[in-house]
Amino acid sequence: MSGDAGSSRVGVFLCSCGTNIGGVIDIPRLAESARKIPGVIYVEANLHTCSSEGIAHIKEAIRAHGLERVVVAACTPRTHEPLFMAAVEEAGLNRYLFQMVNIREHDSWVHGRERESANEKAEYLVRMAVAKARFLEPEEEREVEVAGSALVVGAGVAGMTAALNLAGKGFQVYLIEKEAQTGGLVGKLHTLFPGGRDAREFLEPLVEAVKGSDMIQLHLGSKVAKVEGSIGSFAVTIQSGSNTLTAEVGAIIVATGAEALTPEGYYMYGSHGGVVTQLELEERLRLGSPIPPTVAFIQCVGSMESRGRTYCSRVCCGVSLKNAVHLKRLDASREVYILYRDLQASGVELEALYREALEAGVKFVNYVPEEQPKVAVGADNSLHLAVHDTLQGASLDLQPGLVVLATPLVQHDGGRELAGALRVPLTQDGFFLEAHPKMRPVDFASDGIYLCGSAHSPKGVAESITQGLAAASRASIPLTRGVVKAEAVTAVLDPDKCVGCGACASGCAFDAIEWTPVGMPRVNETSCKGCGVCAVECPVGAMQLRYFKDTQLLPAVRAALEPAPWACETHPERPVVLVYACRWCSYAAADFAGVMRLEYPANVRIVLVPCSGRVDFSHIYQGFSSGADGVVVAGCLKGQCHYVDGNVLAERRIEAARKALEVLGIGGERLDMFFCSAGMPRDFAQHMRDFTGRVQGLGRVDRAAPAFTSPESQDAEVR
Ligand code: FES
Repeated sequence: MSGDAGSSRVGVFLCSCGTNIGGVIDIPRLAESARKIPGVIYVEANLHTCSSEGIAHIKEAIRAHGLERVVVAACTPRTHEPLFMAAVEEAGLNRYLFQMVNIREHDSWVHGRERESANEKAEYLVRMAVAKARFLEPEEEREVEVAGSALVVGAGVAGMTAALNLAGKGFQVYLIEKEAQTGGLVGKLHTLFPGGRDAREFLEPLVEAVKGSDMIQLHLGSKVAKVEGSIGSFAVTIQSGSNTLTAEVGAIIVATGAEALTPEGYYMYGSHGGVVTQLELEERLRLGSPIPPTVAFIQCVGSMESRGRTYCSRVCCGVSLKNAVHLKRLDASREVYILYRDLQASGVELEALYREALEAGVKFVNYVPEEQPKVAVGADNSLHLAVHDTLQGASLDLQPGLVVLATPLVQHDGGRELAGALRVPLTQDGFFLEAHPKMRPVDFASDGIYLCGSAHSPKGVAESITQGLAAASRASIPLTRGVVKAEAVTAVLDPDKCVGCGACASGCAFDAIEWTPVGMPRVNETSCKGCGVCAVECPVGAMQLRYFKDTQLLPAVRAALEPAPWACETHPERPVVLVYACRWCSYAAADFAGVMRLEYPANVRIVLVPCSGRVDFSHIYQGFSSGADGVVVAGCLKGQCHYVDGNVLAERRIEAARKALEVLGIGGERLDMFFCSAGMPRDFAQHMRDFTGRVQGLGRVDRAAPAFTSPESQDAEVR
């Protein structure tokens, strides 16, 4: 390491990710550019840097070339950073001397149709990562003890399965259920599909095992009121009526299930007793109530819509097939119709059920969304159902005694409340969002919190059990180890600069700033969560955040915007937008925009920060002075900041910063605050398109203006 100039022994590893990156980004050209970056002494391109061969190459290069810093340009650090950090550590480097940059989700996957711009962006992104890496410092992770207990929220099939599995491994489990009984949605069913097994018979042993376990504390009619802490030591306040209980747990599993949509406003539901939901039919079947001789099921009621609930609920077709066959078994002469749009009967067992329904004489009628079936009531109060069968090309006029509406599973209020308490994201459809669909399908991005069952997305019983076991298995890893490494990203104070004003403590939501006997602040690293709000509050720059120090962030921002001497800009007239994205929701939303190939302009460059609350005026001003024409600070939705209220503080600062930008002549409208959840990739991409369009209308920032030349303005700082 060469003092203030940063390390001059940086190794850069470029991943093609098969054709995912290499199909758009010219990797040899990127390597050529990377070799010219100051401090870079080694560049290697791999087909898959995360493969065992790629990892081995990183370790070899560290040893052979004496690398002091490592940069990997590949996919998202949200999934692969731990793997590369571990590799770096195994080769003898501190894991925090590693930096990853995302040229897949944030580049090749979203700018594939602007190939030249995507290539230029990749060069900027790599320069940005190297610029930060050169100034990284070794950091130490503390070991945190893990409480040998877990919280499972939701005592449906998935939750009970998870609770029993953990209890069987010897961990104390708090099982919380908002209803007065266990069983969730399955407890409201008559039979299960595809086998037609009695739902209560199926549930009974599961419920008995839960109730009989010494290791499971079942709390019915209860909810989670508050959650504090992090993996290893969550303090959970459980509310049961007017009683509250606090439990300390090492891990949390979300198994809150879902509820069936009440189809108000659809097909006369609620105004005619012959129009019922699937659950109401299940109840009638369970009670042995008489069923009319003609029954019609209407699928996709309130789902697969062009707006709002656009998703397929997956389980409704199986339920209708099961009930249609059951009705035929009860009375073969009964007329049973299934009016469907896209019948989902995949898998051997559901396919067999579909065939059984056909053989039993169930009539399948295909309709298209443009010609929805129509339900009317005759003078004698009988139901009339008109539908155009698109496959037969014929219009049918049916007179069913019972119309059964197959409605989708949707998120319930309890699930939304819990998402807020845990600060975990929901998808645009309202379900809990996993950290990664393939790599971490039952994990949340927040360590120590897992999910399973229909809380995640609509699921049948078999899939809910499988996920319940998977979530329990994931949760049992830290519980079994008994310790986890806590991230080293915490605040750090330079006592020589500190003036003891206490601004850092006033901004801390975690009471992590203590006072020494001589009246100086001190960071309690166990309490510190690493948001960086205190660093922004500090007026003299004495407080910094490890791995996100100003000395590390600002060079990265400059490199993300300033053209390299050897680079040639294809579109110098295009405005450039810098986005500070919090690592939890907004960076993840950008990742998911990539996964969904949601395009936005390639001149949007994203800098990862722990929380939007870490961004201060110096970062914003640095953006404009380095070449940005617009700056976006992107954070979690209000109420969902992973550090309590970092995004609210950020919003306040943005307001003040806008005024300062007006005074400086840059223009307050060039600075934007955007709130999103990880499940809002469409909004993210749309916002980037809209904001870039607005900035385009404003033209490029005049960097010869006084705002960038007078020393006073360069010192401007708004807190
Ligand atoms: Fe996303 Fe604070 S963590 S804004």
